[in-house]
Parts: sequence; structure tokens; C-alpha cells
Amino acid sequence: MKDQKYLEMAMDQAKKGLGQTWQNPLVGAVIVKNDQVLAKGYHRRFGEKHAEIDAISHLKNEKEATGATIYVTLEPCSHQGKTPPCVNKIIELGFKRVVIGQIDPNPQVSGKSVERMKQHGIQVTNLDNSKSLNPAYNFYFKNGRPLITLKYAMSLDGKINQKSGYRTKLTGKYTFKDTQKLRLMNQAILIGENTLKIDDPKLTVRTNPLFPPYRVVLIHDSRELNLQQSIFKSEGPTYILTNYKNEQHLPENVHVVVDETWTPKKIIDFLTKQGIQSLLIEGGSHIHADFVKSGLVDQLIAYVAPKLIGGSGLPSVFGQGISEMLDFKIEKISQLGSDLKVFAKRVY
Ligand SMILES: NC(=O)c1ccc[n+]([C@@H]2O[C@H](COP(=O)([O-])OP(=O)(O)OC[C@H]3O[C@@H](n4cnc5c(N)ncnc54)[C@H](OP(=O)(O)O)[C@@H]3O)[C@@H](O)[C@H]2O)c1
Repeated sequence: MKDQKYLEMAMDQAKKGLGQTWQNPLVGAVIVKNDQVLAKGYHRRFGEKHAEIDAISHLKNEKEATGATIYVTLEPCSHQGKTPPCVNKIIELGFKRVVIGQIDPNPQVSGKSVERMKQHGIQVTNLDNSKSLNPAYNFYFKNGRPLITLKYAMSLDGKINQKSGYRTKLTGKYTFKDTQKLRLMNQAILIGENTLKIDDPKLTVRTNPLFPPYRVVLIHDSRELNLQQSIFKSEGPTYILTNYKNEQHLPENVHVVVDETWTPKKIIDFLTKQGIQSLLIEGGSHIHADFVKSGLVDQLIAYVAPKLIGGSGLPSVFGQGISEMLDFKIEKISQLGSDLKVFAKRVY
């Protein structure tokens, strides 16, 4: 019971790093001795101290760690990355017990630290209950590709616009806020050519996080890019996946990547190579259909606006041929002002 309570405290610490840790996981730590919390810490930013070291730095004196228990939401690291291995410090300071929330799925670490700590006589308990903190991190190492979320706003009759070639504003301010949070939680956002041209989105997170998601645009001929579009006037890494090279002078943050064809599988392989752990697909209808057809959708978020569009408006997913049906489980339905949000996870 007590272990559970302190690990939950560590999980609350971990959440404070949301949006700041980039491709590192959210991790929190709590140091306890004689049922007293001596220090708390979390991984604040990509490249900075890990949670265990942050918590240790909040002890009055490092000697307090001797004989104490450290609760940490993820197995401590055992490799030299941007910071030295945390496991060394845990051993050096004489912690008696380490309670972790999960084994690190990163093969550089996975299980190795637990083994080393045990060899040094440290008691290790894995409660295996903190995976929900880092769904994309866990997914990426398990499946060798990013967690893919399809997201759209639609009317009650399943349409995402009123008329071909036009943008239709469907949802309200609460949904806008929610979609901003969604962008913050993803490391890349993908849109198709028509959405770029018609909607002219910025694809930014308005709170200007330290590590904004990569903006990825699929466009046939990058020579047709209109540099007056909003996406080229804002900062943040931007990738144009195209079939033809662009000879124009582009802003430094815009990278053109040429391939003869960009299938969903190739796009995902490209992002995997960049270490991208989560991808949000933000339209339009044809890009959605391509990913559905490839079976490359793991989660779905549909915002449903209380409107009927009728006519020839584009459905939320529309493509060629017949796709295999994908099964989902609806995890949550919530009300955002007058809109509904449906969150569903793929059933494999
Ligand atoms: N309500 C919402 O949530 C929402 C979100 C986003 C967009 N929208 C709306 O959706 C509409 C646009 O959707 P859409 O379905 O027409 O277009 P889209 O999905 O944005 O873009 C599709 C186009 O991208 C190009 N493309 C696709 N795959 C490609 C590939 N592998 N390589 C190179 N180019 C590729 C294709 O051009 P070709 O056809 O020339 O091959 C394709 O027609 C707009 O009206 C927008 O306002 C609504």
C-alpha cells in the first residue's frame, strides 16, 4: 500500500515535465526513509538531470540517502547519455531499496540496471504500473515505430468540410484548446497537400514549447511551394516529403526530402529514423484513407461538432478501393463545450 502511495507521488512529479522532455520519457522520483519523504524530483527537460539525480539534489545532505528507498517511475538508466548513469549514483550513495514503476523498454537499459543494483545488494521491486505515463515511448521501443494517432473534427454526418477546396470551421474554443494539448503530446504532425494549400495551418503549439513537434507535409511537387504560407513563417523543424526537389532558397528550419513515392510505410520509416515516437495525423480525408488502408493507425480522436453538412462535403476518411476494416475500442467520450470528443484505441 505504502509503495503504491509513494510511487503515485513519483508519478505526479513526472507529469510536471510534460512537453519539456522531448524524446526522453517523463520520469519522477521520491526518496523515503522511515516513512518520511526526504526529497522529490523529476526530469525537467531533455538533456538535463534525470529524476533520481534531481531528487537526490534536493536532499539536505547526500548522506541521507544511505539506507533510504527511492521510488522512481522508470528503471534508472545504466548508460552514459547526455548525463552519467543514474544507477551508479544510487549504488554509490547506499540506497537500501529501489521501487520502480516499470522496466525501461530502451534496449540500452532494459533490465540491466535492475541486475546491477541487485548485484550490489539493493532490494529492487517493480510495481509495473506506470506505463501510462509514457505511452509513445513504450510503444516506440516495443514496435520499432511511432505511435500513430489520427485526429479530425467532423459534423454529425461525418463530414470534415462543406465544400471541396474550402476550410469549414466546425468546432469551438474548448476543442481548439484540446487539440493544442494533443500537439504538445506528439513529436510530429503530418498533413497532406490539400490541407496545406486550403487551410494554411501553422501547425504550432501556441505556448511555444522548447521542443515543438516536427511539422511534416506531404506534397507532390515541392517546386510549387508557396513560401507565403503560414507554416513557412513560423519556427519549428519542418519536413516537406515530396517527389521533386525544390531549388528555391528555403528557411533554415525547412527540409525537403525527396523520394519517388511516399507510402505511409516509407513516411513512418523516415520518422522512425529521426527517433520520432509519436505522430499526429491532422488531415485531410485522403491522407487519412492512405493510413487506414496501410493499417497504420493506432489511436483515433474524433471531435464531433453538432452540425449537419449534407451535400458533397468530404467524409472524414475517403480514398480509393476497399480497405480492410480496422477494429477499435472506444476508451473515452467527453464533452468539450458543445462538441464531443471520442477517443478510441486500435484492437490488434
Ligand atoms: N475537419 C478537419 O479536421 C480537417 C482537417 C484537415 C483538413 N480538413 C479539410 O480537408 C480538406 C483537404 O483534404 P483532402 O482529402 O482533399 O486532401 P489532403 O488529405 O490534405 O491531401 C491529399 C493530397 O495530398 C497529395 N498526396 C497524398 N499522398 C501523397 C503522396 N504519397 N505523395 C505526394 N502527395 C501525396 C495528393 O495529391 P494528388 O491528389 O495530386 O495525388 C492528395 O490528393 C480541406 O478542405 C481541409 O479544410 C479538415
